[in-house]
Amino acid sequence: MRVFITGGTGHSGPYIISELIAAGHEVTALARSDKAADAVSAHGAKVRRGSLEDLDGLKAAAAEFDGVIHVAHRQDLLPSGGIDAVAAAERQIMLAYGDAMEGTGKPLVVSGSIGSPGWEGLGRAASEEDPPLPGGDPYKGSLRVRNIVETTVIGLAERGVRSSVVRIPPIMHSTTDNAGFLPLLIALAKEKGVIGYPGDGANLWSAVHSRDLAAVFRLALEKGPAGRNWHAIGDDGIPFREIAEAIGVRLGLPAVSIPADVLMLPGYFGFLANLVTLNLAASNLITQRTLGWKPAEPGLIADLDNGHYFPAA
Ligand SMILES: NC(=O)c1ccc[n+]([C@@H]2O[C@H](COP(=O)([O-])OP(=O)(O)OC[C@H]3O[C@@H](n4cnc5c(N)ncnc54)[C@H](OP(=O)(O)O)[C@@H]3O)[C@@H](O)[C@H]2O)c1
Repeated sequence: MRVFITGGTGHSGPYIISELIAAGHEVTALARSDKAADAVSAHGAKVRRGSLEDLDGLKAAAAEFDGVIHVAHRQDLLPSGGIDAVAAAERQIMLAYGDAMEGTGKPLVVSGSIGSPGWEGLGRAASEEDPPLPGGDPYKGSLRVRNIVETTVIGLAERGVRSSVVRIPPIMHSTTDNAGFLPLLIALAKEKGVIGYPGDGANLWSAVHSRDLAAVFRLALEKGPAGRNWHAIGDDGIPFREIAEAIGVRLGLPAVSIPADVLMLPGYFGFLANLVTLNLAASNLITQRTLGWKPAEPGLIADLDNGHYFPAA
């Protein structure tokens, strides 16, 4: 298949490009700079110059290629327009793809997130069938963007696009993870001299290795039915306390509880306080069964033991 991908220079993008090429697909990646063009070429992709701001350019690409994978995101809009501006821009991009791909049955696979506000009340791991907005107040944070974008993507199935969303857990880990939650938690621990966990640390966080994630994108592109959510979940739910303890052992720092009543005060977690308390357990059973996918890479704790998150000083 001739595949167009955005976000090829990010964390997940290079893994997806490599996975697609290894499976025999021809990949063309969006690049908005010479640096990005060099980076995607180094992974074996052809280059298409352009940016997410150019909706006509994205439409033309979606019309021209056999399938689209979209993992880029407009975080540059955050400082000026906040989360609503990011959501609005991302939604317009999805609608542009929809205009170009309507009635073609071509695949459009877009990144989403594990974690919707209402999921807190589920009392079980979220499944692929749980909608992105099961009710309740919209969560005030970046996950809200995903809810709006995911709903739009799934809606394109009704317009004859083989659209689907790959929901990504809060921790996507690999040897090239420089800016995800793990590096953030590790940096915070080094700064504070302890590694904190919220309350009793029993809330569950899910995780995936970036190579396993890439395989879900490929399979969804190749054979995923329209209008579906896929869960790229390697670890379905690890108590936050265990993640903190594993980091603490590596850093030689104690893992300590940050009591719930001081979580929101300026202190340990800062802007992460709203997020670290969430229960982000998710199952991958439907994804495994439908796509024939199985995570094959090390789980989160084993990957922490590999040491690459803790280079010698
Ligand atoms: N655990 C997680 O990391 C996690 C969890 C849930 C959801 N997600 C979502 O998964 C997706 C992929 O995440 P990631 O960590 O792989 O992304 P990332 O490392 O943050 O990379 C972002 C990508 O978007 C591109 N981009 C940004 N603005 C652009 C623009 N205006 N025009 C063209 N390209 C632009 C960047 O290209 P440049 O190199 O040119 O800047 C880069 O390739 C994102 O949508 C993210 O929100 C991630």
